Amino acid sequence: MIRTLYRVFNSYLLPLSQKIVYGDRPGFESLLLVFRYAPWRTDREFLDTYGKIKDFTMVDIYRCHELWQLVGETCKHTSGDLIEVGVWRGGTGALIAKRASMSIPGQTVFLCDTFSGVVKAGKEDSKYKGGEHQDTTEKIVEGLLTRMELSNVKVLRGVFPEDTQSLVEGRTFRFCHIDVDVFNSARDVFQWIWNRLEVGGIVVFDDYGFGQCDGVMKYVNSIRAMDGAMTVYNLNGHAIVVKTGPVSGTK
Ligand SMILES: C[S@@+](CC[C@H](N)C(=O)[O-])C[C@H]1O[C@@H](n2cnc3c(N)ncnc32)[C@H](O)[C@@H]1O
Repeated sequence: MIRTLYRVFNSYLLPLSQKIVYGDRPGFESLLLVFRYAPWRTDREFLDTYGKIKDFTMVDIYRCHELWQLVGETCKHTSGDLIEVGVWRGGTGALIAKRASMSIPGQTVFLCDTFSGVVKAGKEDSKYKGGEHQDTTEKIVEGLLTRMELSNVKVLRGVFPEDTQSLVEGRTFRFCHIDVDVFNSARDVFQWIWNRLEVGGIVVFDDYGFGQCDGVMKYVNSIRAMDGAMTVYNLNGHAIVVKTGPVSGTK
């Protein structure tokens, strides 16, 4: 019975609703996730942290838990600081900082944002025009960090890398979260970080696969064949790039 219902839903109702909402966009379809292992439901330390940051993020619990786990992985396997570009109200940044503080308290987490919204929207981005997500302030982020007693964080205001790279020059990194919504910013951040990322380090692109952030998807697709990197598309909306070798140069 359940199988039949599932088949009817998947074969008829889902494609129909997709057609009505999205039209026939090549390469896209609605994805129905069935009953599966959900480790975020039983991970107490994660849930405690998520409870504190959830009102300060646009990122859902699935991607938040993946960030949490990937930061933990990089703490085991490599060295360097951590960085997020695209902070908004600080939710994912505080989550990353909390997980890092549990394993590598001496390491700094840099949180970079213009605090005046998205920049560098261009012809590769079909929805973003620039200026989105400016409904935040540094004060909001700093308030969250203070309440969570996170002292391993530095907030950098300005367009990254142009305005604030000098404040992190000379450092290497184990983890980078790029959550900037558009092609040109994603490219500029990735090109800056790649040669500063330790082998075994991880770059997570948010927005990969979301129709409204097609610029990010195009950029990640353009670097997939790069040497010294392994790229994974997780259906939750993350592209995860692991540095596998000391190869320089990015597209
Ligand atoms: C979707 S929001 C980030 C969401 C956040 N990670 C969360 O937890 O909800 C995107 C942010 O990226 C910032 N941004 C985009 N391009 C940037 C750049 N090149 N440098 C600094 N900030 C940038 C915008 O100001 C905006 O706050």
